[in-house]
Amino acid sequence: MITLEGVSKVFTSHGQQVCAVDDVSFDVAEGELVVLIGPSGSGKTTTMRMINRLETISSGRIMVNGRDLRSLDVVELRRGIGYVIQQGGLFPHFTVADNVSVVPRLLGWSGDRRRQRAHELLDLVGLPPDRFADRYPRQLSGGQQQRVGVARALAADPPIILMDEPFGAVDPITRKQLQRELRRIQAAVQKTIVFVTHDIGEAFLLGDRIVLMSDGRVVQDATPADLLRHPADPFVTAFIGEDRGVRSLQFTLLGEIAEPGPADTRANGVALPGSLTIIEAARELGKRGPGAGAGFWISDEEDQPTGYLSYQRFAAVLGDTIAGDHTAEHASEGTDGIPH
Ligand SMILES: Nc1ncnc2c1ncn2[C@@H]1O[C@H](COP(=O)(O)OP(=O)(O)O)[C@@H](O)[C@H]1O
Ligand SMILES: [Mg+2]
Repeated sequence: MITLEGVSKVFTSHGQQVCAVDDVSFDVAEGELVVLIGPSGSGKTTTMRMINRLETISSGRIMVNGRDLRSLDVVELRRGIGYVIQQGGLFPHFTVADNVSVVPRLLGWSGDRRRQRAHELLDLVGLPPDRFADRYPRQLSGGQQQRVGVARALAADPPIILMDEPFGAVDPITRKQLQRELRRIQAAVQKTIVFVTHDIGEAFLLGDRIVLMSDGRVVQDATPADLLRHPADPFVTAFIGEDRGVRSLQFTLLGEIAEPGPADTRANGVALPGSLTIIEAARELGKRGPGAGAGFWISDEEDQPTGYLSYQRFAAVLGDTIAGDHTAEHASEGTDGIPH
């Protein structure tokens, strides 16, 4: 849906050239949520602004839906892209409903249709329209304003949404709530989203893929699990921080650490789906209590056994992962000698 090919941006300020974005390439597939993350000044905002042509590209090219950005009409392009920025960027003298309806008004929708769409979207973002539609931005909390920003970006149903630190200015609790809401909304609307943040927790919670930037360059482009297991260099490791092991628990699946089971059929009754993360499995085992055997079966979607884990191996992988001996692969190399 979006492809950046060797994209660079050079600014000239006070006679000095600043390379804000340096030979950046990545793809965003349809329906995917890609997180752009990096320290302040690493070129995230400039990259986003080039995607919707608020900045020109110095070299390289950007394709949207297979077409070169430069060949697209800029008004047309922006209609197909919703943009959410920090602090909402709402118009203070417009009501909430009118803020949500900015693009539909530009598109010439009738008043009825605009109102109906605004109400539908306010419902979607958790702001009951009967209470919120006629308020003004100053009558909302920061978190509520960001929700209006999200509703506004979705109003004309654009296939692409760009979000630049949308939850950067709200308190941590509201932020968590907004992140969860965004996951729920994304499951419902399945947009192609580029989401900028400098919060690694937010990146892991939301990203199907994470593109880590530093000094205008892409340092690593990977799924959350791969970023944790195979950090490209010490910068990535440092950026992920000390929580790396604990985070890995949320991205390692039982199916990935299962081993071939004993020859007899399910000797004990405990079977867990291979799609559970280690942490979900630990919780689940805590609820159920141990079965009769020395371990439990791993099953696929059809409830067929595909592997086996002894409690001992499960505990070893859990311990190694938390300790930051990271990967499941590592654990299976390192903790053997466990009889099955
Ligand atoms: N309009 C501009 N003129 C000159 N330099 C700019 C301009 N916009 C951004 N920069 C510089 O480009 C670099 C990247 O900025 P930006 O994309 O905003 O980073 P981020 O969003 O990752 O914090 C920074 O060094 C910034 O100072
Ligand atoms: Mg920025």
